[in-house]
Order: sequence, then C-alpha cells, then structure tokens
Amino acid sequence: MRRYAGRLAVALVSVGIAAIAVLGQDRAPDPVAWAYGFVNAGPDPSAPPCAADTKPHDCSWPGRPWPEDGKPLRLPGSDQTYTISQVQSFWAPADWYPGEHPAAPDIVKFGHEKDHLRACGHCHYFNGMGKPENAHLAGLPVNYILQQMDLFKSGGRKPADPRKANANEMTQIARFLTEEETKQAAEYFSSLKWRPWEKVIESETAPKTRQSPAGMFLPLDSGGTEPLGERIIEVPQDTDRTERLRDPHSGFVAYVPMGSIAKGEEIVTSGGGKTIPCGTCHGDDLLGVGDVPPIAGRSASYLMRQLNNFQQGTRQSPLMKGVMKKLSTEDLISIVAYVASR
Ligand code: HEC
Ligand code: HEC
Repeated sequence: MRRYAGRLAVALVSVGIAAIAVLGQDRAPDPVAWAYGFVNAGPDPSAPPCAADTKPHDCSWPGRPWPEDGKPLRLPGSDQTYTISQVQSFWAPADWYPGEHPAAPDIVKFGHEKDHLRACGHCHYFNGMGKPENAHLAGLPVNYILQQMDLFKSGGRKPADPRKANANEMTQIARFLTEEETKQAAEYFSSLKWRPWEKVIESETAPKTRQSPAGMFLPLDSGGTEPLGERIIEVPQDTDRTERLRDPHSGFVAYVPMGSIAKGEEIVTSGGGKTIPCGTCHGDDLLGVGDVPPIAGRSASYLMRQLNNFQQGTRQSPLMKGVMKKLSTEDLISIVAYVASR
C-alpha cells in the first residue's frame, strides 16, 4: 500500500509537471507578478501572439476605449487644449508642455501609422518620464539606449512574464524602426532632464486597486485598503490625470513593506555579503556613470521587473546576472524600495 501510495505520488507529480509545462509553456514561476501588472502568477490570459514580423501594436492588448465627446481638456500650467481622442491618440498624442523640451523628432511625435507603430511620446511621454508599466527614458545615456534597442531587436531583452504584452510591443518597435530613427530618438530622450516624481511609503496596507489594460494598478474610485504583504504596489498620485489626461507632470506613489528601505540600503551600499555594492557601477548616488544607467528614484515596478528579468535570464546582461545571482525575492523587494526612494 505504501509503495502504491509512493507511485501514485510520483505519478501525480509527473502529471503536475506536465500540466505546468503545458499551461506555462516557457513561463517562469513568478513571485513578482505585480511588477508586470498582474495580481497572480499565471494562468491569466496569455498575451496576443507576436511573431518577428507582427506589427508592433498588434502585439498589445487593445487599450481602454475613450469615446470622443468634443470637450476641451486642459492641464494646469499648459496653454494647450485637446479633446480626449487627441490626448489618447497613438499617432499624434497630446504634447501638453511643448515649451519644456526641445523639438521632438517625427518618430517620437507620430510613430508610423502604416506599421501600427505608436509614437514614442504616447507611452514614454514627450518629457521622457514614462510610466511604471513602460519605462522612464529621460537622461539615459545615448549608448545605453542604443544598446537596449539592439537587445530588444535580437530577442535578448524580453519580459520574464510573457503576459506583459506591451513589452512585446516594445520589442517589435525596435525591429520596425530605421537606424536613423533609432538614433534620433535615443539622442532626443537622452537630452531630456529627469526629475524625481515617485513617493515611496512604508506601509502595512496599500489602496485596493484595479488593473488598467496596459498593466498599471489604479486605486478603486470606491477607496479602501488591503494588506500589502510581500509586494510593492505602485499607483498614480492622481488616477484621472495619469490614466485619462496623460499628464506628464503627475507622478506616482509606491507602497513598500515596513522596514524594507533600511534592509535595502544595507544590501545596496555594502552588498550584504551576497552581492557587489550597486554604487560600484551605478555611482555612489546611483545616478549612473558613463554608459551605466541611473537607477535612483525610478519606478519601483519598473526596477523590480528588470531585476527579475536579469535574474531569470530573459534580459541579457553579463554584469547584472552576476549581481542578482544570490539575491532572494525579499532582498529584491528591499533593494527596489530603497533605490526607488532615493
Ligand atoms: C506601447 C507603448 C510603447 C511605445 C509606443 C514605445 N515604448 Fe519603449 N518601452 C515600452 C515598454 C512597455 C518598455 C519596458 C519594457 C520592460 O519592461 O522591459 C519600454 C522600454 C523602453 C526602453 C528601455 C529603457 C531602459 O531604461 O532600459 C527604451 C530605450 C525604449 N523603450 C525606447 C523607445 C523608443 C525610442 C520608442 C519610440 C520609437 C518607444 N520606446 C516607444 C513601451 C513603449
Ligand atoms: C558590476 C557592475 C554593476 C553592479 C555592481 C550593478 N550593476 Fe546594475 N547594471 C550594470 C550595467 C552595465 C547595466 C546596464 C545593462 C547592461 O549593460 O548590462 C545595469 C543595469 C541595471 C538596471 C536596469 C536599468 C534600466 O534602465 O533598465 C537596474 C535596475 C540595475 N542595474 C540595478 C542594480 C542594482 C539594484 C545593483 C545592486 C544590487 C546593481 N545594479 C549593481 C552594472 C552593474
């Protein structure tokens, strides 16, 4: 009987492994689904199929529809007026503060409608501040941006959670750009000044949220909180200004576990016996050195996504792979809490 039970257990485990292999395909186990815009590890709906020649936007979820009502919309300190479909346009998105940045190249302003390649300014904003579900680009070194565009193209930078459709879209964007457009966009975003706009709060709880189709968490209009646990929940400081109006001045709040900032500081500054201090390469202020990118004060979910991608090997970096090797998920959460709070 015991022997039978043992065989049954082995059989069940094998069935389980087969089921995981089928369900997950190449999906890595994902203790940090929140960093990719999901509440749980799979199986959620998979991302739309995205082959090497799929037009970029066809790889993404259709966004939330915003019916045109013709009403003029404004933002404080902006002399521009737009309607909702202009604000949300893929091919000529609203540029609320044109006086705050140099003239943007056409690829940043318009993308290519014929290839379903959305304007960089639609997702990353004209000031390059971006949002947690994409990336901030302002002030990144030109060579670093070019190197990352090459990695996207070659398949060397993918999300560890393949449900993250807009990262697949980003890969296809890199593939559909001309060399000249890539260079112009890299120089444009690199020339912009980055400013901190993320508030990091240690807390037992976080606001109750809903998921936007693009992969951001948005506080419920009805309010309420829930236990935070071993997660970071990052939300806009003002949902309407971020989601509907795409206000490039309106920042974010990250709720991080109690005590995580001090734990993170210890690992980041000393290596905590597990890794190399981050400042060795990213600079003591973590604002980057040469072509090594700045990390201080950037979006907590963006940072976590990248650290997890390095650790899982879906984003290639010989240096960061070594750095991540011995760090646990709890270590990564603490590191991210500290780095985002700088
Ligand atoms: C559909 C929205 C979208 C558009 C349009 C878009 N991107 Fe992205 N971009 C993303 C997402 C999502 C990421 C983050 C991927 C990840 O999680 O690794 C990203 C990341 C990047 C990064 C990496 C930043 C870093 O710190 O490593 C660069 C560089 C970049 N984009 C450049 C561009 C350029 C140039 C354009 C216009 C030609 C553009 N993107 C258009 C969604 C977009
Ligand atoms: C040995 C040098 C080195 C050390 C130490 C190092 N990094 Fe990096 N890091 C890099 C390089 C180089 C890149 C750019 C990617 C590449 O070229 O491989 C990078 C990229 C990153 C990125 C991605 C940034 C982006 O824009 O997407 C993050 C996040 C990051 N590092 C965090 C950290 C943290 C946190 C630590 C400390 C625990 C750390 N790094 C330690 C060299 C290092």
